[in-house]
Amino acid sequence: MKTIFSGIQPSGTITLGNYIGAMKQFTELQEEYNCYFCVVDQHAITVAQDKMELRKNIRSLAALYIACGIDPEKSTLFIQSEVPAHAQAGWILQCVTYIGELERMTQFKDKSHGKEAVSAGLLTYPPLMAADILLYGTDLVPVGEDQKQHLELTRNLAERFNNKYNDIFTVPEVRIPKVGARVMSLQDPLKKMSKSDSNQKAFITLLDDPKQIEKKIKSAVTDSDGIVKYDKENKPGVSNLLSIYSILEGSSIEELEQKYEGKGYGDFKGDLAQVVVNAIKPVQDRYYELINSEELDDILDRGAEKANFTANKMLKKMEKAMGLGRKERKRK
Ligand code: TYM
Repeated sequence: MKTIFSGIQPSGTITLGNYIGAMKQFTELQEEYNCYFCVVDQHAITVAQDKMELRKNIRSLAALYIACGIDPEKSTLFIQSEVPAHAQAGWILQCVTYIGELERMTQFKDKSHGKEAVSAGLLTYPPLMAADILLYGTDLVPVGEDQKQHLELTRNLAERFNNKYNDIFTVPEVRIPKVGARVMSLQDPLKKMSKSDSNQKAFITLLDDPKQIEKKIKSAVTDSDGIVKYDKENKPGVSNLLSIYSILEGSSIEELEQKYEGKGYGDFKGDLAQVVVNAIKPVQDRYYELINSEELDDILDRGAEKANFTANKMLKKMEKAMGLGRKERKRK
């Protein structure tokens, strides 16, 4: 059975963008693959976090994975910092990464742009992400469009390590969904929807209540021509809303264009709000059942145990390939 790995940062409540671009794929893929899903808390601290908030967000994200349909009987769900091999392998991979490669990462450029105090971790984050993936012999990594460059670097690092030291890593493929790989901000449809956006109206989180969702969709930026039609270049706002509608409801863009022919944005937005609420409601119900439960801790304990077992085996191979530590002693 082929292996999948993916991760989400607990840097706020996950958005409809994370759900459509990543989480929704995960639940479908777990039926066919050996899956590892991770709350990548060590990635979140590359930018400053409030410690109480971070703790809360880690648990909340773990609960949301399950509420969205990750089945702990089929997939391994765990928290990155509970598996120390990630940081250890991340260090090793930093030592086979060139600084120039890291400085070229567009996400680093975006996140560090105009900031005075940029942590070294923000720069060296991609080899940690590569470690996350390579430790599990991952074949496939389902992510949204914005992670493509990090995945290319992961593949390069795996090949470089295999050629230089020993052929131990599987070189993973990236899997980006055909529709919804880049859900855009509701306030600036040229920017991706992000949980760290300072404008709360720009994104919908999976824990927003129906009133908030309705308000945010009603105030989503569109255009003045009043025609519900997909045209990414000239009508980015309406096109983004059409994509969200189509993915969540399962109807095609053409069907939706026909349905709203001759109608204004008011009807369209009202219906879309209902579609979003209907998609999120069962997730929220399950989330509130889980969030304070021991069941969640049991799942995460089991996940960490399984992940530690697999990751430590690969870490040993990496260390051996590079000549770190001592030779294993023969047992008497
Ligand atoms: P993160 O936490 O920013 O996002 C988690 C996942 O959601 C996708 N995503 C989106 N998809 C569509 N539209 C959007 N607006 C949108 N915003 C986010 C992301 O592409 C991602 O798949 N570096 C990663 C986390 C990570 C990881 C890994 C992923 C760490 N280690 C190993 C895969 C494998 C990140 O910051 O994702």
